[in-house]
Amino acid sequence: MHTEPMSAVKMCDGVYWVGAIDWGIRNFHGYSTHRGTTYNAFLVMADRVTLVDTVKEPFFDEMMSRIRSVTDPASIDTLVSNHSEMDHSGCIPRTVGAVSPDRIVASKNGKKALFEHFGELPGEVEPVSDGGEISLGDMNLRFYETKMLHWPDSMVSFLPQRKVLFSQDGFGMHLASTERFDDQLPLDVLWLEAARYYANILLPFSPLVLRLAGKLSELDLDVELLCPDHGPAWRENIGGIIGRWASWARQTPSLKAVVVYDSMWGSTERMARAVEDGLVESRIAVRSMPLGSSNRSDIATEVLDAGALVVGSPTMNNQPFPTLADCLTYLKGLKPRNLTGAAFGSYGWSGEAVKIIEEQLGQMGVELVSEGVRTLYVPDRQALLQCKSLGRSIGDRLHELCEAQ
Ligand code: FEO
Repeated sequence: MHTEPMSAVKMCDGVYWVGAIDWGIRNFHGYSTHRGTTYNAFLVMADRVTLVDTVKEPFFDEMMSRIRSVTDPASIDTLVSNHSEMDHSGCIPRTVGAVSPDRIVASKNGKKALFEHFGELPGEVEPVSDGGEISLGDMNLRFYETKMLHWPDSMVSFLPQRKVLFSQDGFGMHLASTERFDDQLPLDVLWLEAARYYANILLPFSPLVLRLAGKLSELDLDVELLCPDHGPAWRENIGGIIGRWASWARQTPSLKAVVVYDSMWGSTERMARAVEDGLVESRIAVRSMPLGSSNRSDIATEVLDAGALVVGSPTMNNQPFPTLADCLTYLKGLKPRNLTGAAFGSYGWSGEAVKIIEEQLGQMGVELVSEGVRTLYVPDRQALLQCKSLGRSIGDRLHELCEAQ
């Protein structure tokens, strides 16, 4: 099939972006990607021409077209796979078939993962060790393992001659754009989308992020261009994005509460309003997330820098609303830390939802400030005052926790 000629973007002397822009994707394994994304691949025009990562399989022609705008793809000597998740490795079999590189390089776990995804490739995968280096002739690539960021195979590649760190998922975001650098895009959008990415992809691995931050600091790499596999490259705000990752990884308590709830006939919603009122009286910033109109990944993003998670649900068929099961299952998997909170909800006759939610919050490590508030059918004034008092108690506890830092 004829392919439109597409251009590479020069990132710095000898390094080109040859990735793909996915304007239409709205769901990335359960995470709402409302601004689309990019799959970044980079061509290093060293003596030994090197392709760092590939793109999601349907974008093979786009990547090849961009490569052709710089060089004959057959001139590619070395293929580096920093991360074997299919959004980056999906094109590896076709690329290896089309290019026949002399060398395919991955971490030891990456070699195993590539085999488990694609079977034998037409070319041996050379495993590289943490701190290992290969020569590209006039340049070198050095590799550092970043296990579990985002998969066990993950590593980053450093090109010292150009001060470029290819960081695969690290420091990325889902943001489709034609601009390739952080200083070409609105910074507030970048911080928000970077936070969404961290909350929805990296949050469970926060202890490892902190370890990586320490390792990078020890290595003291001289990085002038930080090239993730999603979103823009960082050249003006490298310290800003690394600092934010460290801060998100620490998840220290803050004076912010996220109230997540669903409602059947409006009773639990009225209780939510009263809880929020109590929180606001205690000088807590509130983000109210009704599940009828809130996506789970937006909730995860709000939880990222919150100190409290307060959850409300009516009881239906002896259970919380199914929307709560979706949201809490998702949040539990993301392993948020250092949260305080509580549960509330209305019921008709048995009223198990609050207890079940409290158990789930407990399993997530959320500290419960008190027993939850339950109310029969419709909250009366006393029930609403109880909800307000619950909000105040959560606020008081948050102030204590924040002052103790
Ligand atoms: Fe962008 Fe973990 O893959």
